[in-house]
Amino acid sequence: MKRRKALKWTLIGVGGGVGAVVLGGAGTLGYIWTEAKLDTAGKVDFANPLAVPPLAESTQDPSGARIFKLEIQSGTVAFKDGRETETWGINGPFLGPTIRAKRGEEVAFAVHNGLAEGTSLHWHGMHLPSVMDGGPHQEVEPDGVWAPQWTMNQPAATLWYHPHPHGRTGNHVYRGLAGMFIVDDDESEGLGLPSEYGVDDLPVIVQDRKFNDDNQFQKDGSFMSMQGFLGDAIMVNGTLAPYFDVTTRLVRLRLLNGSVSRLYNFGFSDGRPFSLIATDGGLLPKAWETDGLQLSPGERAEIVVAFEPGEQVVLRSNPAEEGYTGPLGRFNGGDDRLDICEFRAAENLADTTAIPETMGTAPDLAEAEIAAERSFSLSGFNQINGESMDPRRIDFAVREGTVEVWEVDNADGFMHNFHVHDVQYQVLTVDGRVPPERLRGWKDTVQLVPQRKYRLAMRFADYTDPNLPYMYHCHILAHEDSGMMGQFVVLGEGEEIGQVPATGSVHSHG
Ligand code: C2O
Ligand code: CU
Ligand code: CU
Repeated sequence: MKRRKALKWTLIGVGGGVGAVVLGGAGTLGYIWTEAKLDTAGKVDFANPLAVPPLAESTQDPSGARIFKLEIQSGTVAFKDGRETETWGINGPFLGPTIRAKRGEEVAFAVHNGLAEGTSLHWHGMHLPSVMDGGPHQEVEPDGVWAPQWTMNQPAATLWYHPHPHGRTGNHVYRGLAGMFIVDDDESEGLGLPSEYGVDDLPVIVQDRKFNDDNQFQKDGSFMSMQGFLGDAIMVNGTLAPYFDVTTRLVRLRLLNGSVSRLYNFGFSDGRPFSLIATDGGLLPKAWETDGLQLSPGERAEIVVAFEPGEQVVLRSNPAEEGYTGPLGRFNGGDDRLDICEFRAAENLADTTAIPETMGTAPDLAEAEIAAERSFSLSGFNQINGESMDPRRIDFAVREGTVEVWEVDNADGFMHNFHVHDVQYQVLTVDGRVPPERLRGWKDTVQLVPQRKYRLAMRFADYTDPNLPYMYHCHILAHEDSGMMGQFVVLGEGEEIGQVPATGSVHSHG
């Protein structure tokens, strides 16, 4: 073990020379090189029926708001034979229910923290006031209740929720706190897309875990990884080695990369094509056919897959296609091939849905008037523009009602991505060129291929608060937690940048 540690630091130390060292090595180094690649294709037994997270129940309050009760709790789960695994969950021992609400609806939550330490729930991808955002400034004390409320004000989309306490997000997500948040709207409901929850419209929350000999989640970072934790056991919705019984010809998968660090390049075992119909912020104007789709942590996509009666096919993650190849890629999971979920089609498949010609609306910010341009350079696991997150520092302010262009780049060659709270953005260009198809819809999180420049256009609308910031950060949670994050406020007319309130916001526990 000691020896491995020493090697790790040697390799980090040589930086750009990693390739030469690894490829030229024999013996131990050769062994490490081979061991660093994980390939489970054809080796997973798919013995467990895929769990589908229940839909969160709600009650109507007299004012018309829909109220959801969310209980954050600890528990245990029998993921495999032997001792049960200690976990955290929301309204259950692991993960949380799928929350579903429609554009225009008023939603209200009672979030009770039943844990022994503070945490929060952030609504990733949601357009809402910063005081409701659930970031590090809305931490809920043990036994505390947090009651955010807002009006759903964005197009149909697959969002998610997860904790966001300062410095501890990765740990809290890894223990099991995460869930899907589906936004509906009138337009999407009339499209005839597969939409029967749990039947032909399926949440697919993909996460990796590593179990220790005692069946507990292992927490220390994987050997040689520079992006935090990589697990070797893949679960979907909390089910290891899952299979799903397909009863319809078309199935819509709402893919969520809910892992703390791992990148997935989704595809099928027979290489069949599928249709990408939505990205982070909602439906694309037109479906795009592909046979591979890479998602970094925090990103979502909706895809529609067609099945033939009686067949079996496996959803798999193939080696990374972009931005994570070569020796650094290998040591960070970029060469891994992982079987994720088996789909078993019935002999008779219902065939009542279709992908319409036109669906959502295309991002339209390319021609907008630009109020400000900013640049962000991510480097060193913990810095943006040379600074680490300080919860008391507001990095800058934007004006409500304006469009800005943020130019973002990954300066150091490790894996990073970039997420902005409150908004969905348009990727205008990647290195000056039109972005690839998979980045042409609304996005809130985008993988940053090393050394490329991403120009992101976003409009800040509706909600202002001079004191309470929104976050922007790398969604590799080890990076976020070590400080690769910043904060901005949205100002109304005549407002000046304020100060983060000193009380009732950031608490630290161990
Ligand atoms: Cu998914 Cu700032 O978070
Ligand atoms: Cu977010
Ligand atoms: Cu990063």
